[in-house]
Amino acid sequence: MKRLISFLFCVAVFMLCAGAERETKNQKEMNRFIENLMKQMTLEEKIGQLSQCSGEFATGPDNHRISRTEEISQGLIGSMLNVSGAEKTRQMQEAAMQSRLKIPLIFGQDVIHGFRTGFPIPLAEAASFDLKAIEQSARCAAIEASAAGLHWTFAPMVDISWDARWGRVLEGAGEDPYYGSLVAQARVRGFQGNDLSANNTIMACVKHFAAYGAPAAGKDYNSVDMSMGHFANFYMPPYQAALEAGAATFMSAFNDFNNQPSTGNSFLLRHLLKGEWGFKGFVVSDWGSVQEMISHRYARDEREAALKGITAGLDMEMVSECYRHNLAQLVADGTIDEELIDDAVRRILVKKYELGLFEDPFRYCDVEREKKITHSQPLRDASRHMAERSIVLLKNEQNILPLSPNIKSVALIGPLSKSQKDMCGAWSCADPSRVITLYEAMQQRGVTINYSEGYDLESDKIVDLPHTLAQVNRSDVVVIAMGEEAWESGEMRSKADINIPAGQQQLVEEIVKTGKPVVVLMMCGRPVIFNTIREKAPAILCTWWLSSEAGPAICNVLWGDYNPSGKLPMTFPQHIGQIPLYYQYKSTGRPAGQDVWCTKYIDQSDQPAYPFGYGLSYTRFDYSNLRIEKSSEEGVYANVLVDVTNTGRYDGEEVVQFYVRDEYASITRPVKELRGFEKIALKRGETRTVKFPVTDKQLGFYDNQMNYVVEPGDFTFMVGPNSQEVQSVLFTL
Ligand code: NOJ
Repeated sequence: MKRLISFLFCVAVFMLCAGAERETKNQKEMNRFIENLMKQMTLEEKIGQLSQCSGEFATGPDNHRISRTEEISQGLIGSMLNVSGAEKTRQMQEAAMQSRLKIPLIFGQDVIHGFRTGFPIPLAEAASFDLKAIEQSARCAAIEASAAGLHWTFAPMVDISWDARWGRVLEGAGEDPYYGSLVAQARVRGFQGNDLSANNTIMACVKHFAAYGAPAAGKDYNSVDMSMGHFANFYMPPYQAALEAGAATFMSAFNDFNNQPSTGNSFLLRHLLKGEWGFKGFVVSDWGSVQEMISHRYARDEREAALKGITAGLDMEMVSECYRHNLAQLVADGTIDEELIDDAVRRILVKKYELGLFEDPFRYCDVEREKKITHSQPLRDASRHMAERSIVLLKNEQNILPLSPNIKSVALIGPLSKSQKDMCGAWSCADPSRVITLYEAMQQRGVTINYSEGYDLESDKIVDLPHTLAQVNRSDVVVIAMGEEAWESGEMRSKADINIPAGQQQLVEEIVKTGKPVVVLMMCGRPVIFNTIREKAPAILCTWWLSSEAGPAICNVLWGDYNPSGKLPMTFPQHIGQIPLYYQYKSTGRPAGQDVWCTKYIDQSDQPAYPFGYGLSYTRFDYSNLRIEKSSEEGVYANVLVDVTNTGRYDGEEVVQFYVRDEYASITRPVKELRGFEKIALKRGETRTVKFPVTDKQLGFYDNQMNYVVEPGDFTFMVGPNSQEVQSVLFTL
């Protein structure tokens, strides 16, 4: 037996070594190929590789460079964005193959939540706390996008945000750096798979580096100002995590960071990302952000903007033309060394090589494959699976939900229940005509629908109330679709007021007065405020914008075919003045709730409407027997265990959450931080013990010198169904 083990061990070691050798051989070959290619490139051709221009449509101010086939065939463009489709990308790639050195183009696009088959907005997906499903969603997006000739998505957005006024919270994973890091990694793995050269994987682009989620006053593109300690502990972790997962590219942010625009910020790009973290991929600017350094008044003109960008480590310029017009001169007059440009070019060529484009520039341009994959059933199934898991049950008085199968008629109120476009949300590549709305899905269920528009979204007025009430009165139950239209959240969609308009809320009040059972569906792209609805409506589901399979997923939850399991990845405030509102606030010298001399508002509670991590189920989960056990495992200080029992009437899933507070530290620390979670499925009556290992990752933080430290002392460990309802135990390290 011993012999067999040692034989197997030798075989394993041999195979590992052989693999490693093959790897270095491949790498050597690649390096040789690229160095050889670069020797043949003129400076102009090198600068061409650093230039990206936009194709058919603009995703930013429309005053920039658009596609020029002639330039492509002269080798003066390295990448295109906003061109997709196997046929269209083939045509452009053919132009690139006319160029002297035949360097292929990379095609990129914002594939943010699904591609032609839409998936829930990223914030909604984050509500699932289901990393497998989130990875699968990115995988599906990659499969469909790569079949349309794309090599690269500008995703995931990993920016942490504590400000629901910022419309781009829709695109991220919410407010928590620990959870945000895991979601970032899942998305990178999903997009990239194990092999970039496979024709169904695409490069990820981690954005927006750095701290774009913290614009002053929640206004998109606004300045960011934060201490390094704050950055390191709350905003930095997801970027680093995405890099650890192997992300191929990064995007610099529009905002300034530490008083310098991120796009020309040497500390961020050269020192931290490429230096300390050893990032080997390339950095692309955001749309026009090299040129925007002039508007930041950080560069006098395009020449200085190009100089600051390339010096800082910005490799590829998206749509503005500062590099194209100035880099050659900067080299010629000795302001910069050509080696700076070579380094950027090399990084881009390496990715083209890894994508397999030098081997076959058309490997992603297969029209037949595109036809077969686009809108295919497995993608729709995965989208529905994700959508069901993204829904959060916020309230369920008198167990109105799930609806009984005996219900014959539903009063369906609100124009959002019939809107395909609004279900797609912002940053959607999906085909709206293929969205199954709530109305259609209910029709497919065979219930009688008594529909009324109820209110007008544009004017925020209740329309034809008598008709609506008549529809309500002739129905067994009322379902009201409320919330935001798709244009209301997303890039440049910051709001000073995130209240759901008064008209919508009044309508709910009027309908509730009839005494019929009422379910409100909150369709939104961000946390919104709806205090009247919250108070009056007996049942509320947050259904976000779920895209292609919105209708069927919502119906499955309404009728209990799927028991909701989502939890809020962002705190929902009660009042706009509470923002930024988040659960991991710090201990202060005058802590909240102590007496009059404490941190508080005199006119508002400081409690959220719904805390981070909150979400109900049709069943009930009881937590008991929270305990700490010693561990003999290397690197594990202890295990925290808790028993969770399904005491309700249905099978269900629960996200068991583990929070930590460092009681006393050398810097001020939050009152609690999520440091673990597990999503478990429990049958009725079943009990499961959930275990959270405590390692450096759970206990440490970045000190003011940006060193990750673990300080011995007391810690409080908390476990519960959300960030507020926790049980705790003390631990001493
Ligand atoms: C601007 C956005 O900030 C960025 O996220 C996006 O990838 C680019 N435009 C390209 O569309």
